[in-house]
Amino acid sequence: MSSSLILRTEALDKSYPGVHALDHVDFDLYEGEVHVLLGENGAGKSTFMKIISGSLPKDSGRIFLRGQEVDIVSPQHARELGIGMVYQELSVIPGLSVGENIFLGRLPKRKPFGTVDWSEARSQAKRLLDDLGVDIDPGERVGNLGIGEQQLTEIAKTLSMKARVVLLDEPSSALSDEERERLFTIMRGLQEKGVAIIYVSHRLVEIPQVAQRVTVLRDGVKIGTLLVDEADEATLIRMMVGRELGEQYPKERIERGRELLRVQGLTVKGVLNGLNLSLHEGEILGIFGVLGAGRTDFARALFGVDPIDSGEVFLDGRKVEISSPSEAIDLGLGYVTEDRKDGLVPRLAIPANITLASLKKMTRLGFLKHDEERASAEKYVEELDIHTPRLSQMVEFLSGGNQQKVALAKWLCSQAKILILDEPTRGIDVGAKVEVFRLMNDLAKQGVGIIMISSELPEVLAMADRILVMADGSFVAEYEGGQASGEDLMRDAVAG
Ligand SMILES: Nc1ncnc2c1ncn2[C@@H]1O[C@H](COP(=O)(O)OP(=O)(O)OP(=O)(O)O)[C@@H](O)[C@H]1O
Ligand SMILES: [Mg+2]
Repeated sequence: MSSSLILRTEALDKSYPGVHALDHVDFDLYEGEVHVLLGENGAGKSTFMKIISGSLPKDSGRIFLRGQEVDIVSPQHARELGIGMVYQELSVIPGLSVGENIFLGRLPKRKPFGTVDWSEARSQAKRLLDDLGVDIDPGERVGNLGIGEQQLTEIAKTLSMKARVVLLDEPSSALSDEERERLFTIMRGLQEKGVAIIYVSHRLVEIPQVAQRVTVLRDGVKIGTLLVDEADEATLIRMMVGRELGEQYPKERIERGRELLRVQGLTVKGVLNGLNLSLHEGEILGIFGVLGAGRTDFARALFGVDPIDSGEVFLDGRKVEISSPSEAIDLGLGYVTEDRKDGLVPRLAIPANITLASLKKMTRLGFLKHDEERASAEKYVEELDIHTPRLSQMVEFLSGGNQQKVALAKWLCSQAKILILDEPTRGIDVGAKVEVFRLMNDLAKQGVGIIMISSELPEVLAMADRILVMADGSFVAEYEGGQASGEDLMRDAVAG
């Protein structure tokens, strides 16, 4: 590599109680390079990035910036050194506008009185968003945006700081294919200006598209750094999980039982246009669509989160009204939301979170059956390979992906007859994905009907028995599993 070294770590080390999160990690980064940081959930990626961005102190080791040793003491200090970070957990403030979020603490001032120049702020924000190629109004409240748009706002905010080293912690997991392409274009633009990027993603397919080098971490240890040309998927997976993985989509054909759910003419004005669907025992129904197609709106309406304007829902042939999530749960529905934090209580331990939606099963005469709670939690921690130093760990202290596994476990444990999974594998590492698919198979075998909302073509194609394509609030096409190609689904999804 001819360009010059911008960042280097030497034996960077960090422990949390019971976890050696980073074990003497040596790492280097060149100007104009995109360097992917890869590893299973809990491998130490976010910890590494947080230390470099000044939001977490290291225990020991050294950090060099352009050859000079630096002691990065705060995010503010990191920014002054030209290091900017987009966090895995969004740090945008929902109550503020997009523009305010982007320029938080640095709003342009009007001379001579130093008052905030709002029109300048708006137009600067507009320009940044235009550069990102996204159609978001800078005046919009961030809380009104979808999760992908919030992520783009966060990215715009970091880019506005004109950093020379940009750290992106799973920025693409919440983005649609189209938005992701834009992000890659922006990354290439930054690269051309010599900006160096560390990029965390669980999407192995992205790597040759965006990066020059890959470093793999496993349990806090650096396994190795490869040029992308040497980094085929099988090699990377082996380095990440320390073994061969086998089948990535372990689909099992399961006999379809009686009809569990029928939806007729479900309508939310301006959002969902008269949706019809049925779901059977043992069936995995995929709903594919691009961001904004209305898939999450559908899930929310069905689960009683948002009110519907018209339409009918039948469970086991019986007409029901679902006007709140608690009614939905009582009727045997479960919903793993797209934003995993929705469903978790961070300050509670893993077992309490896993059994949150199963309290009826877990209590007797009003007393919690601690043994059963513990046993259920143990089972899911094991099956989903949730990395934690102990079962009683507070969920707050788990890595992002492991928190997602807990959210998923909560609903797998709930004994729901109908499960809605919104992007069930987002942010989950390759090994755990396989376990999630296996659990879906097991549930289907027990007669559970699963609605799998996903933007990941390969997983919908492989795992769904039937696929509905959604666009602009309507179901625009339906396929039997195995009858559709990726091109078919994409074409329907964007044509709608
Ligand atoms: N604040 C904390 N307190 C205790 N343990 C923590 C804390 N933050 C992280 N850990 C632990 O440190 C390890 C590394 O976590 P980290 O967040 O760096 O993983 P990651 O590679 O980013 O994973 P993911 O892909 O799930 O985001 C994990 O075992 C995690 O449980
Ligand atoms: Mg992380």
